Amino acid sequence: MKIQKVGVAGCGLMGSGIAEVAAKGGFDVLVREVDERAVEAGRGRIEGSLARALKREKITAEDRDEVLGRVRFTTEIEALADRDIVIEAVIEELAVKNELFGTLDGLCPDHTIFATNTSSLTVSEMAAAVERPDRVVGLHFFNPVPVMKLVEVVRTIATSDETWERSQAFARALGKEPITAGDRSGFVVNLLLVPYMLDAIRQLERGVASIEDIDKGMVLGCGYPMGPFTLCDFVGNDTTLRIADIMFDEYRESRYAAPPLLRRMVAMGRYGRKAGKGFYDYSGERPVPLPV
Ligand code: CAA
Repeated sequence: MKIQKVGVAGCGLMGSGIAEVAAKGGFDVLVREVDERAVEAGRGRIEGSLARALKREKITAEDRDEVLGRVRFTTEIEALADRDIVIEAVIEELAVKNELFGTLDGLCPDHTIFATNTSSLTVSEMAAAVERPDRVVGLHFFNPVPVMKLVEVVRTIATSDETWERSQAFARALGKEPITAGDRSGFVVNLLLVPYMLDAIRQLERGVASIEDIDKGMVLGCGYPMGPFTLCDFVGNDTTLRIADIMFDEYRESRYAAPPLLRRMVAMGRYGRKAGKGFYDYSGERPVPLPV
């Protein structure tokens, strides 16, 4: 059964990006947010991203209008009842995701795939909470969604071959490259990326080098697009901490243990770019490293 109607639950940073790429892929997209304020914020994110793409001549004004014309918004969960796939990108709390899929389970037809964009929770726990575990899959996108080419397609032991194949085809139709991962915390990318970021923080704690020099080292020495501290601030230090804690809980290996500095920074609200402060201060023209 071909996917035509896409539902996106949650229109924050990830949900808005997913809605945008789905609309760019020609799909009929319906985004559900909890209230009108959240709808307007989500719409603004999509419009802002398209404006950026237009400015960079990635799309034309006509493309932008067509894409916006394919995205509708709702605050009613019942409106998602006719979707062929619903991708959730709501807050990273299992109870919230389970409640959402539990409600949709009673509304959507049998063929509807339930996909989660979780980066750290267990997809199997979401599958176990609905009557269609064979139709539950992880579709893990990367930030910024319109730019990053990868989607991790996460299979639980219950995900059917058909769901997996339809999910991969869907990712390709969005212009993304899928890779398949088992349902283990961190999947493929975060399992490698998070310990790297944690190691950079440990290096800083040990006084090996400054924030700027560690970042410069990885950008100029290895060709990474961002150094580890710029990346931590970009991903969000609270997000990195949450993922690290979940991975440590799963594997009990010291490489996933969050360094105390990261925990203290999160305690003080230094979440990174979204908070205006993290390893760098973002209030000026260019980011300035902050004392830690
Ligand atoms: N729509 C379409 N294209 C866009 C765009 C948009 N909204 N915004 C930017 N672009 C394009 C630009 O046109 C540009 O394309 P070209 O190279 O062809 O000209 C390209 O994207 C890069 O954009 P910029 O020049 O504006 O910015 P940049 O060169 O500084 O790159 C970046 C920004 C893409 C974020 C880059 O720094 C990067 O790749 N950083 C690493 C990001 C990363 O690692 N993400 C993964 C985080 S981990 C995660 O997400 C998973 C998790 O669970 C935590």
